[in-house]
Amino acid sequence: MADVTPIGSARPAALEFFAGIGLARLGLERAGFRVSWANDYEPDKRAMYTAQFADRPGEHTFALGDVGRVEVDDLPVDAALAWASSPCTDLSLAGGRAGLAGAESGSFWHVVRLLTGLCERRPRVVVLENVVGLATSHGGDDLTAAITAFNGLGYSVDVLALDARRFLPQSRPRLFLVGAQQPPADTPEANPDLRPDWLQWVYGDTSLRTHRAPLPAPPAPLTGGLGDVVEQVPLDDGRWWDEARTEAFVASLSPTQRSRVAALRRAPGVRYRTAYRRTRHGVAVWEVRPDDIAGCLRTARGGSSKQAVVRLGGSRLRVRWMTPREYARLMGAGDYDLSAARTNQALFGFGDAVAVPVVEWLARHYLMPLVRGELAPRSPAQPAAASLSFDGGSAAWASAYK
Ligand SMILES: C[S@@+](CC[C@H](N)C(=O)[O-])C[C@H]1O[C@@H](n2cnc3c(N)ncnc32)[C@H](O)[C@@H]1O
Repeated sequence: MADVTPIGSARPAALEFFAGIGLARLGLERAGFRVSWANDYEPDKRAMYTAQFADRPGEHTFALGDVGRVEVDDLPVDAALAWASSPCTDLSLAGGRAGLAGAESGSFWHVVRLLTGLCERRPRVVVLENVVGLATSHGGDDLTAAITAFNGLGYSVDVLALDARRFLPQSRPRLFLVGAQQPPADTPEANPDLRPDWLQWVYGDTSLRTHRAPLPAPPAPLTGGLGDVVEQVPLDDGRWWDEARTEAFVASLSPTQRSRVAALRRAPGVRYRTAYRRTRHGVAVWEVRPDDIAGCLRTARGGSSKQAVVRLGGSRLRVRWMTPREYARLMGAGDYDLSAARTNQALFGFGDAVAVPVVEWLARHYLMPLVRGELAPRSPAQPAAASLSFDGGSAAWASAYK
């Protein structure tokens, strides 16, 4: 009897579009999913992904290449979930705001193309993850277009905003569209922690097929914890900046920041803060966060510099770049295999990624119960989106992605 696997314990398969270094996979696996196929076009990310997970023929494939070149026949046919962390470049404030028509963020439409082609083998649940800028891009038209495309494929859509800061000492707000072929009954709860006021218009738009799943309240945002993830780097380590560079750092701070930092420096004990380099009126300056939380990790492509760690205490101020291990910890992947990754490769990979505990929370409380049909279904008075046509998505894709 020992080798009989009960049906309830089978691990539903998931597709991972825009897989990067696989942090969506880490979160999905923690909640019981099995990622069978992943795609990304950056060889450096694939190298980190395969160092972490390895490719196991028959069990898992990492398809390296442009999603625009993926064909329906390349996909496994048994997936219950498709996860897509599509590029945010054209949606974030740092980008040109071309939105879902942009060269990079527009690659989302290839996911729609592939889901369209899967027809009746389409996963029961789909997730689109992106920056919260998706909700406001082109006055909400991009979010409407994405929901409409999912609707056309037979999915009702729920839209949630979750900040990694609820789980980790990093501010990283993100938007999650959860598409369900069999949507659950709507919750009467407002759930403002997940569906804030600025998202409510989505549920009021009668041209969209949406639902609001009953979900537990997520943990409250953290107010500290950076000090716990910082690596203990000895003060004589060469990674701490020398005196001249440290003085230039302090000199670039605004007067308010300088006095705040000076107070922390004199206070008893040791504290850590993170700092970003920004350009103000054409001049590069440093800004130190006031709290015990890291700013959102980003990549140079997003127009931001790497993040620095500032150590304050014993009347001294020391600065160094944040290490790859600290990036990993701030993304909830503290034991990620970094053995083969160059520093910038790792920082780029983590700066682009999704925070693991956010994916895990969503997968545990929402995606897995949806896939397993454990959420109370809609009443017949509220017909499920699954009854919609399977072909509507291709029309949306064709008109939006030219
Ligand atoms: C926001 S990141 C997603 C990261 C991923 N969730 C992770 O945890 O590492 C978007 C990813 O899309 C990839 N990408 C962008 N355009 C692509 C395309 N046309 N085809 C395949 N991958 C693409 C980038 O290399 C990047 O890794």
